[in-house]
Amino acid sequence: MNVVLITGAHGGIGLETSRLFKERGYVVIGTDLLDSTDSTFDKFFKGSVTDENMWKEIHDYIATKHGQLDVLVNIAGRNYFDQIENAQLSEWRDMFEVNVIGMVASIKYLKSLLKKSEHGAIVNMSSISADIGSVGYAAYCATKGAVDSLTKSLALELAPEIRVNAIAPGWIETPFTVEGLEKSNDPAAYRKQVESMHALERVGLPGEIAKSIFWISSAESSFMTGSIVVVDGGYIINN
Ligand SMILES: NC(=O)c1ccc[n+]([C@@H]2O[C@H](COP(=O)([O-])OP(=O)(O)OC[C@H]3O[C@@H](n4cnc5c(N)ncnc54)[C@H](O)[C@@H]3O)[C@@H](O)[C@H]2O)c1
Repeated sequence: MNVVLITGAHGGIGLETSRLFKERGYVVIGTDLLDSTDSTFDKFFKGSVTDENMWKEIHDYIATKHGQLDVLVNIAGRNYFDQIENAQLSEWRDMFEVNVIGMVASIKYLKSLLKKSEHGAIVNMSSISADIGSVGYAAYCATKGAVDSLTKSLALELAPEIRVNAIAPGWIETPFTVEGLEKSNDPAAYRKQVESMHALERVGLPGEIAKSIFWISSAESSFMTGSIVVVDGGYIINN
């Protein structure tokens, strides 16, 4: 049976992705800062992606129980809003810790198990924010730019055994987005504006990102590595 490890598995995109892999017959191991008792998970680790001890524990669990890992999906992420004059350096540091160094840690500790799979694949969560500027969201945009660069370099380092790709969504309907919309003075008007920025005139659904993640991790995309795949309902072409 194929085994997948998903970070940020309690979140909007993480849970939908976990459910899709489960439907497709995978053993699903989840991890998140927040605990989960969802029956989707064969095993769940509560903790921060920045905690090396947690990654050692996850490595040892998978090595003992399954002997190999087929897919690693790095979804965990956070956001931080402030314009540069108010920037809290501790927040900036934590943004990089969670959004970038958390991925470095998962890949460092699980690489040897992915190498044991005949089709090891890593999927990193980027964002169209890596390619567009966004007032007040410089920290978020910068971390996603770093995710893209990390993805390309590690795709080279880990080839040919392990493919490494990233998915870059537009706005997706999750608690993450709702929190962003609610920072506006008029969330309803802001939502309409955000929807109209996508050529498809709506925000995306977590399930639509889950399907892209599944596809880029599967044999259907076997000649792809180092790619940043944009899944944005036409946001970038429309702006
Ligand atoms: N929702 C969007 O519009 C959108 C668009 C582009 C990219 N993304 C990216 O998709 C990913 C998931 O976003 P989402 O929309 O599902 O948000 P979400 O807030 O629902 O999920 C994020 C999850 O990450 C977890 N997390 C945060 N810090 C963590 C840490 N230190 N260790 C472990 N887990 C931690 C949270 O607990 C949460 O469950 C993020 O990386 C985000 O940047 C989201």
